[in-house]
Amino acid sequence: MRTLKIMLPILIGVFVLMSLLPYGKRENPQTDPSLALQAPKDVEKIFKRSCYDCHSNHTRWPWYSYIFPFSWSVMDHVKNGRAALNFDTWKAYSKEKREKLKASIATKSGVTMPLKSYLWFHKEAKLSKEDLQTIRKWAYETE
Ligand code: HEC
Repeated sequence: MRTLKIMLPILIGVFVLMSLLPYGKRENPQTDPSLALQAPKDVEKIFKRSCYDCHSNHTRWPWYSYIFPFSWSVMDHVKNGRAALNFDTWKAYSKEKREKLKASIATKSGVTMPLKSYLWFHKEAKLSKEDLQTIRKWAYETE
């Protein structure tokens, strides 16, 4: 008990300090709006709901993104997610790259994307059968 009484405040202190540490940034960088993806409304709606938190510059930073250790994980996901695919700079990608990304979107959606850990906190992001069909149709049938 005695050890716990001493250790617990220290532990909480460490977590608070880690949360306050200026590691990484929770930023939504400004980009030219004309570079953003333009897809049919039903497709955009799905991406905005289920993907934009990690794959755009319009991240809705959740409260737990300010709490260590979740903060590190969220910032990493957004950083790597944007680097892999950013719908806000979609038109800056070459045609070839866009085709590759579309194929990747079609195969990853509903499988590894959105990330499982994200779905724990965002039930609304889960893709339905119809969502998947809409996404795949867009990925395979549009320029
Ligand atoms: C919680 C964050 C998060 C969400 C939400 C999310 N992703 Fe990702 N996504 C990542 C990360 C991180 C990577 C890069 C590392 C990897 O591949 O796991 C990635 C990679 C990808 C890639 C690979 C790009 C390439 O280079 O081939 C595709 C495609 C993708 N995501 C599509 C989606 C789609 C579509 C959605 C929504 C249905 C989505 N993701 C939702 C975090 C996320």
